[in-house]
Amino acid sequence: VESDFFAGRLIRWQLVYGRHSLPWQGISDPYAIWISEIMLQQTQVSTVIPYYERFMTVFPNIAPLASAPVEEVLTLWSGLGYYSRGRNLHRTARMIMEQYGGAFPQDIATLQRLPGIGRSTAAAIAAFAFGKRCTILDGNVKRILIRYFGVNGHPGERMIEEQLWQLAEGLLPVEEDHKTIASYTQALMDLGALVCVRTQPRCEHCPLQADCYAYQNDLTAVLPAPKPR
Ligand code: ADE
Repeated sequence: VESDFFAGRLIRWQLVYGRHSLPWQGISDPYAIWISEIMLQQTQVSTVIPYYERFMTVFPNIAPLASAPVEEVLTLWSGLGYYSRGRNLHRTARMIMEQYGGAFPQDIATLQRLPGIGRSTAAAIAAFAFGKRCTILDGNVKRILIRYFGVNGHPGERMIEEQLWQLAEGLLPVEEDHKTIASYTQALMDLGALVCVRTQPRCEHCPLQADCYAYQNDLTAVLPAPKPR
């Protein structure tokens, strides 16, 4: 099947060339994964690492975070930017304590209703923490799919975005075990961050090269299409 060809290659590539020692990897604590994914939404990995470690030392689990004053959370956030992320984090911690008895919800629809957790972040938490077979679709993954399938149009358009979700869902590995789902999700993130980068992608190192529309047609420089104006 197409999906296992794609997923299989990505997973094997990730094993050798992907990132394996990020502080939020190799764990399945939904709280830790949630904190890391929120920090990583708009901030690069190297900046996030010291903030993540400090945060986890001060608030090792959801209970102390929920009972802390929001100012303390924002002080720890200081320098990371996008402070609404810190406020939402605190609100979500209180909601999980009050509405779910401190246990993280496991299904993607419930996760998405929490402040600061969109469709892709919900999927990342569900995949990494619970091994749920759901796809992420952040900016990096959109770029991978646009090049791989040769999608025309800007990812900001609603129709294109919906098409990309459909394509992404069709590529999920058929195998449902936690380890496969987590490696596949990490593989997408790693390929987008390390190989299928916006400018001068390193196609010679890409495991998807043979089937990539943009590579095969020499279009990596023009896909994704720029924002229409
Ligand atoms: N960007 C968003 N989530 C990430 C993760 N779990 N690892 C590396 N980069 C990411």
